This record gives sequence, C-alpha cells and structure tokens, in this order.
Amino acid sequence: MSERIITGERLSGEIEPLSLRPQTLKEYIGQDHVKEMMDIFIRAAKNRQESLDHVLLYGPPGLGKTTLANIVANEIGVKIKVTSGPSIERSGDLAVLLTSLEPGDILFIDEIHRLPRVVEEVLYPAMEDFAIDLIVGKDETSRSIRVELPPFTLIGATTRFGDLTAPLRERFGVVHKLEYYDQEALEKICARTAKIYASEIALESIVEIALRSRGTPRIVNRLFRRIRDFADVLNDGVISLEITKLALDKLAIDPLGLDQKDYDYLYGLINKFNGGPVGIESLASSIAEEVTTIEDVYEPFLLKLGFIQRTPRGRIATPKAYKHLKITHQGGLFE
Ligand code: ADE
Repeated sequence: MSERIITGERLSGEIEPLSLRPQTLKEYIGQDHVKEMMDIFIRAAKNRQESLDHVLLYGPPGLGKTTLANIVANEIGVKIKVTSGPSIERSGDLAVLLTSLEPGDILFIDEIHRLPRVVEEVLYPAMEDFAIDLIVGKDETSRSIRVELPPFTLIGATTRFGDLTAPLRERFGVVHKLEYYDQEALEKICARTAKIYASEIALESIVEIALRSRGTPRIVNRLFRRIRDFADVLNDGVISLEITKLALDKLAIDPLGLDQKDYDYLYGLINKFNGGPVGIESLASSIAEEVTTIEDVYEPFLLKLGFIQRTPRGRIATPKAYKHLKITHQGGLFE
C-alpha cells in the first residue's frame, strides 16, 4: 500500500532539500513562544560559556523538533550528534556516543520515549553529573568505573510525552511543547518553500496548500512538491489555484486536509460503533491499524478539529464530524 501523504511522520526515501530547513531562529517561522524562550536560554548559556541545559521537545510529528535542535546547535556554534531511541540498543552504544562528544556539543535523541530502560539508566548520571558508570571485567572481578564526560546538552524529542518515565522527564531543565501551526505561519512556510524552489505560485494556491496541511510544515512541503509535479507536467511549472485543486483532488485530500485513512477512522467510529464511545483497541482492529499510529498520527489532528473526543469510556465522534461527513446525527437517547 502506498504511504500516507498527509502524515506528519517522515516517509521512507523522502528527500527534503537541506536548504528547506531554516538554519537560524530568525528564519524559523511560527512557534513564537518556544523561539523566544530558546533565544534567551541560548544567549545566556553563550554569555556564561556554559553548556545549555537539557531540552525536551514534544508534540505531533512534522512540526520541526529536529529542525529546532539543529538550529540550537548552529546558534550556539557547537556540533550536533543525531540519533534515536530505537537505534540505541545497548548501553555500550550510548557510552560510545557520549564519550565522543566535545565540550558544549549537543546530543539529539529523537523518539526518546523508545530508549530501552537499561540505556535510559545510563543517561541519568550522564545528564546530571556528566559522568557514566561503566562495568569492566566479568563475574567476581567485575567492577564499576566512573568515566567523566564533557559538559554537553541533551535534546530529546518525543511525540509521546506521557510515555516518558518520571526520572527522565525530571532531568530536563527546559521542556517545550510544539503546537500545530496557524494558517498565517503555514502560508509563510509555503511561500518560503516556493521561493527556494524558484517556483511561480499564485497567492490563492499558497492559501489552499496551507489550509490542507493539517497545521504541519512537513506536510506543507510534501504537498508543495507533489503539486509542483502536476504544475511542471500540465502547466509549464506555474502553480495556479486550478492546478493546486486538481492535484489535491487527485491526491484525495479533502478541504480540511483529511485523507482516506481519516475517513476510514471516522466512518469506522460512526458506522461500526454508532459514534462511540468505543475503546481504542476495538476501533484500531476494526480499521486494521496500530493503536500507536492512531494515537500519534490520526487522533491529534482530529481532536484539534473537534471531530472526536477522548472520554474515560472511549472515543466519541462529535456532531462536527457527522456534519463534515454529511451523515445525519441520530443523537443519543439522553441528548
Ligand atoms: N520548514 C519547515 N518548518 C519550518 C519552519 N518552522 N520555519 C521555516 N521553514 C520551515
């Protein structure tokens, strides 16, 4: 099956030109509060010539957590090593990474909630005391030696704040949630992308792309590239509103940015479970999707649109969802 075009997650094999990534806080559009705070912390750390406190960034995929980490490194003028929770399998792997850092460097761990527990435990003293305890030797002769690390900054990113253990969460001095972008910021990002690709684009197309991008810059850029393909083949490269709408219709993305998978979810909830409440496991199996994918990718945006609610008894579809799908809402017995 083809991958979803409107997911905020990275797609396999997707190539985003590096030039699309803003390099400085000034170039980074949106997330004004986070930018303002990070600017202060970066400047304070630079003035004191100290490493920045550890930073945790969380929020739905595609909102720019990795981009922001790279910007922080660039603004401070240090190197950044990028890794992810699932790719660090053993504590030795993490020890190698940590001992290769230079003073002030940044270690970026994406999907930090997926670090194996034994690896996470190595992080605690590393974050708190800039040291790790290595076990050397075997059996009776084994002993622990403390290895000092250079002061460094850990930037952790996660889509699942609630899955972080308390001891890990508490070791971050700076914690920020990235929010979905508003229409104005998405339009600016789209205009910037068009400029980088040197594409001629109508103002109305920028508005349309932003409207259908689910508040997510990664989706803005992905839709832009697909629409540009249509424009190149059918319209001499000019991205008009007509071409934009044609491409979005062919890609089966509705005016709110919903695709077939969202429809499967909503129709499942409404038709198979009478609009809920229904438990996430039942809903997931009814549409043959994993619970984590539903929780991380489908639901955050449907919640933001006010199409669904999470209640203690399960998920429910709201009248707004019925209206969007043009299904008559029967109403419950007690409504
Ligand atoms: N490209 C992706 N995210 C961006 C952002 N927040 N600002 C500017 N360009 C971007």
